[in-house]
Amino acid sequence: MNAVEYIEQNLHPDGLQAFTIRNETAQDEQAREALLDRAMGEGRRRKSSEKLRRGRLPAQGLAFVARSNDGALLGTVRLWDIQAGHDASGKSVRALLLGPLAVEPTLKGHGIGAALMRHATAEAARLGHGAILLVGDPEYYARFGFDGTKTAGLAMPGPVERHRFLALELKAGHLDGAHGLLTPKGKRSSAIRILPVAMRFSR
Ligand SMILES: CC(C)(COP(=O)(O)OP(=O)(O)OC[C@H]1O[C@@H](n2cnc3c(N)ncnc32)[C@H](O)[C@@H]1OP(=O)(O)O)[C@@H](O)C(=O)NCCC(=O)NCCS
Repeated sequence: MNAVEYIEQNLHPDGLQAFTIRNETAQDEQAREALLDRAMGEGRRRKSSEKLRRGRLPAQGLAFVARSNDGALLGTVRLWDIQAGHDASGKSVRALLLGPLAVEPTLKGHGIGAALMRHATAEAARLGHGAILLVGDPEYYARFGFDGTKTAGLAMPGPVERHRFLALELKAGHLDGAHGLLTPKGKRSSAIRILPVAMRFSR
């Protein structure tokens, strides 16, 4: 999506950390990746969540950046279409995976992460999604309504510390009975090239 949307301006009491949250555009990609490297390091690419994101596009309209008024990228959050297993009747359960969420390391504690979270969850609800899952620190995400009660029957496609596997229902009961493996459901990114499985050479 190319539309740049003015969403929110947070004027910190000291007046220094004014920022806006808007939909991410292709022009944000380089700065976003650099910020993620600074905030999370190389290990970010080995997370189980990455298996649900790799080669996929974020959910429509659900990738956001925070930028300062002079244009610097201060924070990023994206949500991804997934299937959260099946419900008790065997029907597939659609949901969103949130992450990575990251803020410029030198600007932690100014409310940028919270503003991104509040905006992302509100937009996901407005767009009609039923639930958001993530892997993260419960001490941080509890303030946005996330907890581990609805992920008990679900599994990530890789190792995960159970107490960090969290969910927020946007529609009450959306994850009732959800069980099984999380799988990616996002549109494939055009950056992925399908290569021939094997090349055969004849003499
Ligand atoms: C986690 C992160 C996005 C929070 O962003 P932020 O803009 O600093 O957060 P906010 O200003 O909205 O909130 C700050 C509050 O959250 C708390 N907090 C921040 N990270 C926390 C964590 N991992 N666990 C518990 N509390 C945390 C702070 O102590 C502070 O608490 P207070 O309000 O009681 O003072 C940011 O620290 C970051 O980018 N971390 C590195 C990347 C990362 O770990 N991402 C999350 C993956 S789970």
